[in-house]
Amino acid sequence: MSQSSSHLPHPTAMSDGWHFFLGFLRQPWKVGAVAPSSARLAQAIVRHCALGKAQTVVELGAGTGAITRQILKHIGPQTTFITLELDAGHVARLRKRHPGLRIYHASAENLRTLLAKHGRGQADCIISGLPWGNMSSRAQHRIMGEVLSVLKPGGRFCGFGYVHASWYPSSRAFRRMLERNFQRVGISPIVWRNLPPAFVYFCA
Ligand SMILES: C[S@@+](CC[C@H](N)C(=O)[O-])C[C@H]1O[C@@H](n2cnc3c(N)ncnc32)[C@H](O)[C@@H]1O
Repeated sequence: MSQSSSHLPHPTAMSDGWHFFLGFLRQPWKVGAVAPSSARLAQAIVRHCALGKAQTVVELGAGTGAITRQILKHIGPQTTFITLELDAGHVARLRKRHPGLRIYHASAENLRTLLAKHGRGQADCIISGLPWGNMSSRAQHRIMGEVLSVLKPGGRFCGFGYVHASWYPSSRAFRRMLERNFQRVGISPIVWRNLPPAFVYFCA
């Protein structure tokens, strides 16, 4: 590869970016961002998840699969991995790209039922790509209820928030919810190489 072409975005990344943006136009509030997470942000998330040892891993809100790709790099061959996404277009693309993967066209509110389908009552790690700051308080509570009901004792819950949205009342309510429900809530330094800049939270 020539020096200059190595600086061009990969064609998959460009096409994911375009599909993600179309998804944003379809349902801006549900998507909550104009671009998929950068590889830098996705790497920062999985770093906190101890995926190598996990038996069961769940991803909520896969979008075009930016974090899914990193999860797949880190889980072991025996790990049960399921991913949930609301947008039908994203689900179709993910299924084409990852034919063996258990990808559900479903809301995170169905997490417990879907895990049970796989004979799994509990998950070691739940990775969220959800736009919590755009959710109503009721939706936040419903989804967090599902997360807490299936997370193993000592399990991890990780995700990201956007810096600009961290002062929204809904984002602050979400932060308080994390602090009430987890013994440890860690926040990473800002990942500037993401649109928009974001931080990772990791809870146990
Ligand atoms: C901010 S985007 C992040 C997408 C991807 N994880 C990434 O990092 O690029 C949020 C994604 O969550 C999905 N989503 C929103 N609410 C959801 C819900 N209740 N259940 C499942 N997916 C949801 C949206 O369709 C969107 O794809």
